[in-house]
Amino acid sequence: MSRLAVVTGGTRGIGAAISVALKAKGYQVVANYHKNNDAAQAFAAQHNVHVQGWDVSDAAGCQANLQAIQSKYGAVEILVHNAGITRDSFLHKMTPDMWHQVIQTNLNSCFYMVQPVIESMRQNGFGRIVLVSSVNALKGQMGQTNYCAAKAGIIGFAKALALESASKDITVNVIAPGYINTEMVQAIAQPILDKIVSQIPKSRLGTAQEIAHGVSFLVSDEAAYITGETLNMNGGLYLR
Ligand code: CAA
Repeated sequence: MSRLAVVTGGTRGIGAAISVALKAKGYQVVANYHKNNDAAQAFAAQHNVHVQGWDVSDAAGCQANLQAIQSKYGAVEILVHNAGITRDSFLHKMTPDMWHQVIQTNLNSCFYMVQPVIESMRQNGFGRIVLVSSVNALKGQMGQTNYCAAKAGIIGFAKALALESASKDITVNVIAPGYINTEMVQAIAQPILDKIVSQIPKSRLGTAQEIAHGVSFLVSDEAAYITGETLNMNGGLYLR
């Protein structure tokens, strides 16, 4: 039986590319989505993956849905937690809601998503966890104090969990994408996006498929000796 992978935010953007790449590698894939049921069902039919809808910022929802997935398909062996949001604003204009929503969805969700699956990974003596952070966690970005704090928190979370999990053959790693050609990045005002792209040594946005290749590698059996690491995939932007 092929390994079971859950990908959050797995029907759109980077997550969709990850779901498709893991399916192509022979894994069973359950792609989490949040609201757009029709689009998710169409994605499931097109790519022959399972889809399940819930909000990753809801602790009880994560618990109930991961339990349902494990009852239906078996133990989750691979978790790719990719779902995330932006609420960009300079700090002096940021509302408490903008702060809390980003911390809740991008950082607290790591706890909500990992805790329901870690015990069975420990019992089975195998697991691959990949958490999606951002170049902005490492570099900083104006307008993103909330997002940078959450995405940097993910890196610390992964390092601590990697230490706790290594003896059980569970690896915990982070992917830190740069600016990838998705709806999230396309939403940036064009003059600002042009400024950002002009700073990328590769002179272009990344593709979701490029990030998916990195994830496919980190979840593979061949990556068993890599844990607690952050794989930076940003076209050289971090160097600037
Ligand atoms: N790079 C360079 N300059 C920037 C900038 C950036 N990332 N963000 C803002 N600026 C500049 C603006 O060009 C503007 O400069 P001028 O005064 O010279 O015109 C100045 O800062 C003020 O910006 P705004 O006029 O846009 O101020 P605002 O209050 O209307 O909006 C903002 C603030 C919402 C943060 C908006 O500037 C913005 O959307 N910036 C981009 C933030 C960003 O990079 N978000 C990443 C989203 S994608 C993502 O997060 C995925 C990932 O992991 C990489």
